[in-house]
Amino acid sequence: MMSPLTPTTSLIEPFGLEIDLETGSMPGATNHLVRRASDMCGYYADDEALDALIADGDPLHYEVFERPVPEEDGHLMFCVSVLQPGRVGDECFMTKGHYHTKANTAETYLCLRGEGYMAMKANDGSWRAERMVRGRMVYVPPYWAHRSINTAGEPLVSHCVYPADAGHNYGDIASQGFPKRVYVRDGQEAIE
Ligand code: F6R
Ligand code: ZN
Repeated sequence: MMSPLTPTTSLIEPFGLEIDLETGSMPGATNHLVRRASDMCGYYADDEALDALIADGDPLHYEVFERPVPEEDGHLMFCVSVLQPGRVGDECFMTKGHYHTKANTAETYLCLRGEGYMAMKANDGSWRAERMVRGRMVYVPPYWAHRSINTAGEPLVSHCVYPADAGHNYGDIASQGFPKRVYVRDGQEAIE
């Protein structure tokens, strides 16, 4: 019989790396994903406001920093996500949001800086928004699509961990969106 210690997934060397818990900076990251306003077409309620933002310098929207591991069963991917503050019209800057391709995979988000929400949506139309604030962790269960939303005036920084073979399904959210959006008008949050 095969021993449970016989590797069935890539065997790699252990490693450690620093994460600045104030800023989220992870100097050991080797993957850097960048999304600008022009990558967000179709995601916000006000297309014209997004076009104006793109024409006005196409500002940085969010970044993801990773020190990748094999995308295989058994490994855990971890990253730091940095979502800039800003509005498209009155709507708060947000990430695209996705289900995991392997939908029965969860994710943890630990907020290191800023304030906002983790919006989550299940396939039956259920919707939740968990507050993100420094020191608060959000558990995204299997089957829930997830999107970060920045309601503050500083970057929303989180540390995420999820099964490395989860994959990202953007298509369903790109076409269906989330049931609610988060706005700030005259300093007041509105979720509608
Ligand atoms: C990984 C994950 C986060 C997001 C990141 C950017 O599964 O949920 O690392 O990838 O916050 O958001 P998206 O991927 O929705 O553009
Ligand atoms: Zn995810």
